[in-house]
Amino acid sequence: MNLVEAHNIWKSYGDTIVLEHVNFSMKDGEFCTLVGPSGCGKTTFLRMLLGIEVPSKGKLLFEGKDYPQEPSDERGIVFQRYSTLSHLNVIDNVIIGMEFEQSQLFGKLFGKAKKRVYEKAEEILCAVGLQDAKYQYPHELSGGMKQRLSIAQSLIKQPKLLLLDEPFGALDPGISIDMHELLLDIHAKLNFGVVMVTHDISEAFKLGTRVLVFDKVKTDKEYPNRFGSTIVNDIDSSKGRKNEK
Ligand SMILES: Nc1ncnc2c1ncn2[C@@H]1O[C@H](COP(=O)(O)OP(=O)(O)OP(=O)(O)O)[C@@H](O)[C@H]1O
Ligand SMILES: [Mg+2]
Repeated sequence: MNLVEAHNIWKSYGDTIVLEHVNFSMKDGEFCTLVGPSGCGKTTFLRMLLGIEVPSKGKLLFEGKDYPQEPSDERGIVFQRYSTLSHLNVIDNVIIGMEFEQSQLFGKLFGKAKKRVYEKAEEILCAVGLQDAKYQYPHELSGGMKQRLSIAQSLIKQPKLLLLDEPFGALDPGISIDMHELLLDIHAKLNFGVVMVTHDISEAFKLGTRVLVFDKVKTDKEYPNRFGSTIVNDIDSSKGRKNEK
């Protein structure tokens, strides 16, 4: 079964058509990178895959079923800007997402449940290389460390699909390279599906098993909003990729 399927998806806002005729499917564990000109609808597409935006037309399926009408832990997202809470330290920032959920059922976490959550959080922090920064606060972290924390926040929920919207765009080149290694390693270990938007074409080929190019097929100079973008190229980039078995 495919993890995600998009059948002839369209998205418009008012009379602006952003996406049209988008057909797409991906399997568990695939790492799709998404490139295309600014404003072509990449973030809009991610928001649909997250489940916080609905297609205007067409059918979108998650594991063969209609998309749930609300976000769920099965799908996590990391944005270019950090999503950390400034009054919580690193480990509490990771735990907060789980606590929200479980505490709805059990009240505040305690005892064994709390211990399990802490152990899980420590494991994830090790995976993203933040084990020594557990008790630091977000303002004490570098940009790369904050982004590692954002990734840890998504991973603790063990998503089947991780969505990344230019997650390393704001980082220095040297730090982005470390983040590439990190993401490739975690992906090889945990094998969740990834859809990642990037402006950096070499990053797209380095990380993706597939590179999807979004663009308009037709344009109308008088009515620039008349045509939307679609997937104009779907490139198998798995050969030569690090960690590919
Ligand atoms: N909620 C909204 N209401 C109206 N128009 C919107 C909305 N969200 C996005 N758009 C429009 O949809 C188009 C695509 O936006 P989107 O953010 O998906 O582009 P993008 O490819 O991610 O661009 P960038 O590379 O600059 O991040 C833009 O023209 C934008 O103005
Ligand atoms: Mg965008």
